[in-house]
Amino acid sequence: KFEENMIKDEDFEAITRVVSFRGVPMSKYNVENWERMDYFQARHDDVVIATYPKAGTTWVSEIMDMIYAGGDLEKCQRDAIYNRVPYMEIRVPGMPSGVDQLEVLASPRLIKTHVPIHLMPESFWEKNCKVIYVARNAKDVAVSYFFFHNMVKALPDPGPWDKFVTDYMNGAVSYGSWFDHVKGWWERRNQYQILYLFYEDLKEDPKREIKKILHFLKRELSEEVLEKIVHHTSFQIMSKNTMANYKTIPNELLNQTNTAFMRKGEAGDWKNHFTVAQNEMFDTHYQKEMLGTSLHFRTEI
Ligand code: A3P
Repeated sequence: KFEENMIKDEDFEAITRVVSFRGVPMSKYNVENWERMDYFQARHDDVVIATYPKAGTTWVSEIMDMIYAGGDLEKCQRDAIYNRVPYMEIRVPGMPSGVDQLEVLASPRLIKTHVPIHLMPESFWEKNCKVIYVARNAKDVAVSYFFFHNMVKALPDPGPWDKFVTDYMNGAVSYGSWFDHVKGWWERRNQYQILYLFYEDLKEDPKREIKKILHFLKRELSEEVLEKIVHHTSFQIMSKNTMANYKTIPNELLNQTNTAFMRKGEAGDWKNHFTVAQNEMFDTHYQKEMLGTSLHFRTEI
């Protein structure tokens, strides 16, 4: 539970500071005591939702919780999404860390993470846990992440959009390179139990994608429940759901006065933000980074 101003300004200084950790820029505060992550004890029935930030984590978390609840809406109202699906590596002064939350959470647990695959605690692979990875196209993530930086007090000031887009392209933002992240998880998708999904596919046909999730989980739901999940996890409904839209977090930590966490929820919004020059620069870089990979994103977005 949040209390206003419980985080002191000097503590914010510690969490907004991004340091390079095992080759990945991350909040200094998150990476202190990383032993808790390295020695994290997975349980065989844990399911992890892994993403680069802003790729649709909250959306898929809500879908997963609804699947687990068999479509019971009331059950999914039991708590805010960040408590139903704790964020594993998060540490904020004065509050239980993600690891603390998960240690006391009853099984079966749903776990959120943004770590690149090489930072995943080994225990998940030893226990053969399932992971749902969600990827979203690089440019929409850039736009969404920029707005998010301006909302979250614990993230560094992104500066103007032009600077941010360059930093992001070069992997000089929290969680590092989008390219390394999406490729890293893609390359090892067959080595572990990883279901690799795309935000754009979910937008196109949520029911088809939820069926993929059910198949992966070896679960079945009636057509009626499936329809219900599609409806209640639509952008329109989720953005009004206080247990899913982050409105329970005080403005001091997540300022939603100008932009809502549930901002637009569209594919292709980057076209409203990238200039022609930024787009050309980005495309050139993109081609270089994605050369030789079998991972392909839709182009018509
Ligand atoms: P935008 O900023 O482009 O609107 P994450 O949960 O990983 O932080 O991602 C947040 C992004 O997912 C935001 O993107 C948010 O609007 C979008 N999103 C959240 N719920 C959604 C839904 N039900 N349908 C479509 N997009 C959704």
